[in-house]
Amino acid sequence: MSEKDEALVVLKDLCKNYGVTVALNHVDMQIFRGEIRGLIGENGSGKSTVTTILAGIQKPTSGAMYFQGKPWKPASNLESVRAGIGIIVQEAGLIPSITVAENMFLGDYSRFRSGPFIFRSRMIGAARKALEKIGITHIDPALPTYFYNMEERKLIEIAKTLASEPEVFIVDETSTALSEQGRKILYRAMHEAADQGKAVIFISHDLEELMAHCDSLTILRDGNLIDNLDRTDFDENDIKRKMIGREINSDYYRLDQEGYMPEVVLKATNLTTMTDLLCFNMELHKGEILGIGGLSECGMHSLGKALYGLESLVDGEVRLVAANRQVTAPDVAFANKMGYLSKNRDAESLEINASVGANIQSTGYRINRIWGPFISPKKEKEYAAMMVDKLAIKCVDMFQSVKALSGGNKQKVVFGKWVAVDADILILDCPTRGVDIGVKAAMYQLISEMKKAGKSIVMISEELPELCGMSDRILILKDSQITGEFYRKDGFNTQKMIECMI
Ligand SMILES: Nc1ncnc2c1ncn2[C@@H]1O[C@H](COP(=O)(O)OP(=O)(O)O)[C@@H](O)[C@H]1O
Ligand SMILES: [Mg+2]
Repeated sequence: MSEKDEALVVLKDLCKNYGVTVALNHVDMQIFRGEIRGLIGENGSGKSTVTTILAGIQKPTSGAMYFQGKPWKPASNLESVRAGIGIIVQEAGLIPSITVAENMFLGDYSRFRSGPFIFRSRMIGAARKALEKIGITHIDPALPTYFYNMEERKLIEIAKTLASEPEVFIVDETSTALSEQGRKILYRAMHEAADQGKAVIFISHDLEELMAHCDSLTILRDGNLIDNLDRTDFDENDIKRKMIGREINSDYYRLDQEGYMPEVVLKATNLTTMTDLLCFNMELHKGEILGIGGLSECGMHSLGKALYGLESLVDGEVRLVAANRQVTAPDVAFANKMGYLSKNRDAESLEINASVGANIQSTGYRINRIWGPFISPKKEKEYAAMMVDKLAIKCVDMFQSVKALSGGNKQKVVFGKWVAVDADILILDCPTRGVDIGVKAAMYQLISEMKKAGKSIVMISEELPELCGMSDRILILKDSQITGEFYRKDGFNTQKMIECMI
């Protein structure tokens, strides 16, 4: 075989178990120079596991790997980087307190060192060059990393990974953190690498993006390799079906046309926050799914926070109609059976270091109390176990830390908290952000069931199809004002909605 035909990376019979969870089940893969290989699969299908094993971050349970024709058994990620395998990991990969330059060459300062001295200016210069190479000039490598927002940090990670000139460039769910502009930088870097004869492994949830940029796709499901497809064979429905193992059709969203009850449960009057939402009025009815849509800066996320008492008001109020209570703080909302799901899940909706069970139990204090301050451990355990079961949360057991779960399963834990406590009013801010279609479908099902049970839901979303698929009524916001109101019974007109947004 010529060098060109020989695969750059070969994975043979790779297995990985975490306790009882089978994350990879006898996976075989070959990746060639010059290709951008997409990895696609539902949350928890094994995409991050396979790439972190290749990059030396963790070890397989069994199986073999070959890199550049030789057996490949990295002892650490650093060994991988030195050998030519670079990865941008799914989670944040930088240390906020040190400088951008220090982060970029972390673990590899030796090149800027002479005896006991580190030449800081040389390191900063090299960092600047690495950033410029991917077209970034607005980031100062001498500044501490916390100075930069999430998107800028991801861009720094891209530059950092490419600075080591990897033969294999692995990108794990990086694009979700990037704006249009940031994505362009990433795509350009990926295509450049492939054009230079390197291999790129690209993991994303965005099928459209994968189909646009990949030469081939590998589909994983529950740790099994389902199929490899060449670009010429890309077909959206075929890929989706293979990802989830069944046909997806329109019953993905709710199909009923049932309306809601006339009773108003929550009322916002003249809502004015420090930053957004001037004189905003809104009513939420019993059994209603109220969709809130708009461009991401339209004020809808502050609205969600304000409705749950998380944003201080300079004027106006949010009132729980039946109890005749004003929602002045989140504890008032919680005590009155309201729930809130943040767009910023890991930081605001979860105790990320706590277990699955503890997170779900966090809402159940009153329910699981026997008397006074005493909680029944048995009731509490059942409370969480029931949700793990009902929502089919993929975890080893309820004592596992949520940190290790995939995005979709984390989101199920957040839903579980509010379903378990039987919240009457739910404020959902981008509930299906970053989760795959399988989990999405499960969530839509759950939201429909809650509606049928007479619960009221505010669903804030940047995705029009899901708003139209699920809502009884949709408010479109622009510059913190309602610019359009649409009803399910009239049929939703997305063109008109878009006109109201821009
Ligand atoms: N550190 C870990 N401990 C226990 N289970 C894990 C750990 N990392 C991943 N898993 C499990 O392994 C499976 C595959 O996860 P992962 O590779 O992260 O999926 P993906 O990246 O496709 O979303 C999931 O069921 C996940 O919960
Ligand atoms: Mg992953």
